[in-house]
Amino acid sequence: MIPLCPHEKGTRRVATPDHPLPLDSGEFLEEVIIQYETWGKLSPSKDNVLLICHALTGDAHVCQDAPDGIEGWWGQWEDGTIGPGCVIDTNRWFVICSNVLGSCYGSTGPTSINPHTGRMYQMDFPIITVSDMVRAQKRLLYALGMTQLACVMGASLGGCQTLQWATSDPLEPEHVFDIKQLIVIASGARLSPMALGLNAVGRQAVQLDPAWEGGYYPEGGGPESGLSIARQLGHLSFLCPLSLERKTGRRFQNPLQAKPQYHFGIEFALESYLVHQGRKFTQRFDANSYLYLTRAIDYFDVEDALCDIHRLASLKALHVLSYDSDWLFPPEESHHLCAKVLHSLPENTHLQVRHQTLHSSIGHDAFLLERDGLHQFLRDCLIDA
Ligand code: COA
Repeated sequence: MIPLCPHEKGTRRVATPDHPLPLDSGEFLEEVIIQYETWGKLSPSKDNVLLICHALTGDAHVCQDAPDGIEGWWGQWEDGTIGPGCVIDTNRWFVICSNVLGSCYGSTGPTSINPHTGRMYQMDFPIITVSDMVRAQKRLLYALGMTQLACVMGASLGGCQTLQWATSDPLEPEHVFDIKQLIVIASGARLSPMALGLNAVGRQAVQLDPAWEGGYYPEGGGPESGLSIARQLGHLSFLCPLSLERKTGRRFQNPLQAKPQYHFGIEFALESYLVHQGRKFTQRFDANSYLYLTRAIDYFDVEDALCDIHRLASLKALHVLSYDSDWLFPPEESHHLCAKVLHSLPENTHLQVRHQTLHSSIGHDAFLLERDGLHQFLRDCLIDA
């Protein structure tokens, strides 16, 4: 079947021994590959680029490539978020999404081969930050010949990357981009202490699992129990009391069971649900990557740096969307951030800063599951773009 929108999937080498990638830690990566996908056609003046940044354990496959293609993490064409004729219309926009540095979905990370040893980096991979991820992403776009971005958008860690795009990078100030608007969804300028704590406990679960082996576990092995526990903890933070009530409430796993059976196995449907989510995750994600990515988001803090946002002369708008049941990135924090940015703007600025909170009974995952409000918000943002 002929695809309705052009699609390209590829990788780019963005660092070599002659041009290593500097990291915030002071270290360098001499070999960096970034995996990316694009949808739609680049306009002759290259002014229709829309960069989507993915969330913590996502990948570059945000959207399917053909009517019968594999669903992306933001759904399928018929969901109406992204694709031909959708809110993010791939007939209008040249959409690009790249896999973050440190991930295990095609870009360089702990599962890549360390050129100095010929073995997987595993825990020899250097500590990375969100700023390092964006630096690698900027190199990718430069390599692809794109320096104008009509829009950078993302949710959760993707929103953090989007905000990072608004700050200057002292390590590679020569990479200058002409950005028109930023769209930040269910995200913020830094993690709350609560979220930081959940990451810390999750990492302990991984690192205290004997099968972690200091991070040098064999291919195909690894700390399954620890990673599963870490994911279950993370998964709870993507939900909210109402969504939990609706999914399983306090029901017993066995629908015929009327009273406790007095053991430590699975009694409640919630326990079974979480184990299922944890198990599914261990089948698709590398434990060391999980450590590196959660560490990167821990370090992320651009609240002060964002007060310099007006320095992006081409930037017309910063749009921020929150959900009232999201306790990972609560709306009050986004409100505070936008107020702080607004307060710091010079008087004659034309930069529009807009914060909207949507009602949701889903929590943080609303950006993946509740389309109507999201679509209206995105339509409002993209109409003038
Ligand atoms: N015991 C075992 N499994 C159970 C269960 C129980 N009592 N009750 C439900 N399940 C299983 C279902 O069979 C289904 O399994 P499947 O996905 O393998 O088919 C799954 O749980 C349904 O999960 P649920 O969370 O209810 O689905 P949803 O439609 O509300 O959400 C996703 C779908 C993909 C968003 C969600 O499952 C998910 O993965 N969320 C995390 C996404 C994420 O990473 N967000 C953070 C970004 S930073």
